[in-house]
Amino acid sequence: MASTASSLQTIAGITELRATLSAARAAGRRIAFVPTMGALHEGHLTLIDTARAAGDLVVMSIFVNPLQFAPGEDYQRYPRVLAEDTLLAEQRGVDVLFTPSREEIYGQTPVVTVHPGNIGKEWEGTARPQHFEGVLTVVAKLFNIVEPAVAVFGQKDLQQVAVVKAMVRDLDFPLEVLVVPIVREADGLAMSSRNRFLAGKERELATMLSKALFKLRGTFAGGERRASALEAVGWRMLERLPGLTPRYLAAVSPATFQRVNIVQPGDAAIGAIRVGDTRLIDNIIF
Ligand code: PAJ
Repeated sequence: MASTASSLQTIAGITELRATLSAARAAGRRIAFVPTMGALHEGHLTLIDTARAAGDLVVMSIFVNPLQFAPGEDYQRYPRVLAEDTLLAEQRGVDVLFTPSREEIYGQTPVVTVHPGNIGKEWEGTARPQHFEGVLTVVAKLFNIVEPAVAVFGQKDLQQVAVVKAMVRDLDFPLEVLVVPIVREADGLAMSSRNRFLAGKERELATMLSKALFKLRGTFAGGERRASALEAVGWRMLERLPGLTPRYLAAVSPATFQRVNIVQPGDAAIGAIRVGDTRLIDNIIF
């Protein structure tokens, strides 16, 4: 019998999830999937809205994926607030919440992983060498577990979108990838689970990244097309700020993540900074 989907079902086991989802699929329901690492904020919740519009059974996963964190990164201190997340997911209309343990996903350390190729090499890939391999490996596993018709990702992690789209294309995953624009705080800061690490002065400094990117976009709108000139405009706003370390700021093609020399509408400006112990990324589309 078809469920009314009035309340959220939390499932931690792969076998049970597969059974539930094949029944839903057999009943003709279109599965829309939102993978996350939890500590949900309005950015994640907006992905749920898109998933609801695109499918009729919304599955969200919450799994802090150890494979995408390097030793010394924030895997241990990554926020884990499952009770709070469950409430938010339910209120926003998630039907099935998949919350596997580390053992459930990685009963043994994978021997075969998914390599992102050139798209994952630079920018976040330089700073975090194993990161995109870890992301693609877990996303491929989750796609094979959930078998969604649609998967929803945020523009916030634009390089992640590029490698996921390339994987879906190159490995023939039978699903559609939808991308949701960045949800921001009132002062422009892109929402992120890591923002809860920021307090006082750091929180203030963090807004400089979006300010620099907006300035770049304004300069582009004013007619400047040279990437180097645009990058210089943003870079000047980020350098010499005590407590803030700019990591990169560049104009790239959003599909290949190769730097462009002349910026066209549809290209992206991407940036990363470090504030205290927290690394933040953001981007805008020209
Ligand atoms: P996480 O950082 O939890 O993000 C989950 C999804 O929410 C991603 O698609 C991300 O781009 C999106 N998102 C985060 N902040 C957003 C914002 N401010 N506006 C719009 N979308 C936003 O990204 C991951 O988890 C992981 O790498 C994952 C794909 C789950 C694989 O482990």
